[in-house]
Amino acid sequence: MHVSTRRPVPVLTAVDIGALAEETLRVQAAALGLAPRALDDRVPERRARGACGLTAIGAFHDGQLAGFTYGVPAHEPYPWREPVLHRLLAAGRRSWTGDAFYLCELHVLPDFQRQGLGTRLLTALCARAGEHRVILTTPAQPTPARRLYHRHGYRDLIDVPPYASDAAPYAIMGAELPLLPEAFRARAA
Ligand SMILES: CC(C)(COP(=O)(O)OP(=O)(O)OC[C@H]1O[C@@H](n2cnc3c(N)ncnc32)[C@H](O)[C@@H]1OP(=O)(O)O)[C@@H](O)C(=O)NCCC(=O)NCCS
Repeated sequence: MHVSTRRPVPVLTAVDIGALAEETLRVQAAALGLAPRALDDRVPERRARGACGLTAIGAFHDGQLAGFTYGVPAHEPYPWREPVLHRLLAAGRRSWTGDAFYLCELHVLPDFQRQGLGTRLLTALCARAGEHRVILTTPAQPTPARRLYHRHGYRDLIDVPPYASDAAPYAIMGAELPLLPEAFRARAA
């Protein structure tokens, strides 16, 4: 008898990030290869972010959070807003600062990675953004996240050098909405 080992596909649903503060930080820690409770000290901050007008999506498997993403219109008073908008303005990229959606976080548990869940979360969140552009920050080195963003039409807007000796460089990326995946862009060219 053949027994399928195929994992059921997690279900996506809109979530309240403030109410899921602990769960999202545990998923984030695992996705980043940190100890399970390494980010627990950020719980109060994440609870507070729930009040920032976020759009958030969680992916659930058997009632457990397997991945999540959230973002916010760039005009909302989100903590990363000022430095990112400032960098874009200083680099002459004013068009990316108005009517933009800021993608704050995207994380998938290691056991669920490389099965298309990150793609589903990214496209579902961007489809719900009411703005014309989406911007984000991500570590500058080549990562699965950067490949994912590039595949969906994100461009590198600014490379930001480390602001301190123990800080890592990061990139500000942006895409026009709606997202146009690679296959469609190639066909349109
Ligand atoms: C970035 C991240 C969210 C991607 O999540 P994911 O669920 O693995 O994303 P996907 O499965 O859609 O795509 C990832 C890779 O799996 C591949 N893939 C997708 N479905 C697949 C399948 N069924 N079989 C084999 N490979 C598959 C994709 O082609 C992609 O390959 P690539 O990295 O070589 O380009 C995840 O790696 C993560 O949480 N990373 C740590 C946190 C992080 O960096 N977050 C972003 C911060 S800005």
